[in-house]
Amino acid sequence: MNITMIGSGYVGLVSGACFADFGHKVICVDADAGKIERLQRGEIPIYEPGLDELVANNVKQERLSFTTDLAPAVKSADAVFIAVGTPSRRGDGHADLSFVYAAAQTIAGALDGFTVIVNKSTVPVGTGDEVERIIREVNPKADFAVVSNPEFLREGAAIEDFKRPDRVVIGIEDPRAREVMEEVYRPLSLNAPPLLFVGRRTSELTKYAANAFLATKITFINEVADLCEKVGADVQEVARGIGLDKRIGGKFLHAGPGYGGSCFPKDTLALIKTGQDEGASLRIVETVVAVNDARKRAMARKVINALGGSVRGKKIALLGLAFKPNTDDMRDAPSLAIVASLAGDGAQVHAYDPESMEQARPLMPEVTFHDDAYSALEGADALAIVTEWDAFRALDLERVKTLLKQPIIVDLRNIYRPAEARKHGFTYVSVGRK
Ligand code: UDX
Repeated sequence: MNITMIGSGYVGLVSGACFADFGHKVICVDADAGKIERLQRGEIPIYEPGLDELVANNVKQERLSFTTDLAPAVKSADAVFIAVGTPSRRGDGHADLSFVYAAAQTIAGALDGFTVIVNKSTVPVGTGDEVERIIREVNPKADFAVVSNPEFLREGAAIEDFKRPDRVVIGIEDPRAREVMEEVYRPLSLNAPPLLFVGRRTSELTKYAANAFLATKITFINEVADLCEKVGADVQEVARGIGLDKRIGGKFLHAGPGYGGSCFPKDTLALIKTGQDEGASLRIVETVVAVNDARKRAMARKVINALGGSVRGKKIALLGLAFKPNTDDMRDAPSLAIVASLAGDGAQVHAYDPESMEQARPLMPEVTFHDDAYSALEGADALAIVTEWDAFRALDLERVKTLLKQPIIVDLRNIYRPAEARKHGFTYVSVGRK
């Protein structure tokens, strides 16, 4: 199959490289000439484990290439994927679809022969209809079908998620598109994940419902964690106790500082907007968003309380800034709100993150950044763990204790065992545990 990927950002690049690895011939297109030049030189603009190697191998095998020249890439394609950004629109929380519609416009003029146009970007219900309308308007003679095929990739595990998905959701209206999509995903049939063919609107909504449900699960366990602290229960044991029930499932029940990232915050807001537009009540999701927002500030309060109620003039060492480990992504990271609250309360924040400091620097001008974890700890009144990088699990706690001015750890990700931290003489505060 000839596949063209419009947009060489996170989703486009991972999907393009994985499709090439399936054996398809893939051209990744981006309007940003600088980005395409870097990709052609073999530089990967994002941090994603395994992606450098995957791209390099497939470029070498001549299955993967990069261009800014959209028209010829679309002309030769059996399937054109739209994988451009759909950020939250400033002010109203709606998904901003201008990049998707602009892509539809440009694709329309270049179509040649029956082509399947696939929306991979996360788009509100009805976007596929609008893409179809735009293409028909620009090029009334074009022979095409518009498909919805949302991605469910977790940053840091995106290649694994792409190659070994739980399911692939494909929304079609034209039966001809089914054959093309079956061919696109044929290499997956070895592991036989279900290709779920549904209507286009159903597929579009499935993506939002999945993310909203996962955000709800996290928010639920976070509230249970707060209750555990009050009643002297252990949230990790509660999570295990409920998660072994197959109807509930054990995943996404890790209590922490609230969800962040490029998807959950934006997609929950967009789903609420769709509900409001359609007159459908989504009160659970609305509450999840409000509870999660409040949680990030509450986590800063946890640090402040551990220091006796004020951090004025105190030095706080913060380990982990990215919204989760194995990514450099700072979008909606809980660390942003936590740093703002601590600095607002008069603390000097010293931070280290293995990958995200370049992204974090302009977002947190008040923070002093360090080249490694231990140097951030020197003379600090407390250590706060905000992202659960593996490297932080392996810290030498004796050395940590000698570096800190006071042996206080506020662990917002529960990466240490309370008994172990106490054995080393720390005052140890975690989430939802005694
Ligand atoms: C998510 C979805 O998992 C993916 O399917 C979708 O396509 C994009 O959004 P991602 O944002 O990369 O992926 O990260 P994910 O691993 O899902 O974590 C999201 C946030 O939830 C992080 O801030 C993480 O720390 C938090 N989280 C996750 C918890 O606090 N507890 C958990 O149990 C799981």
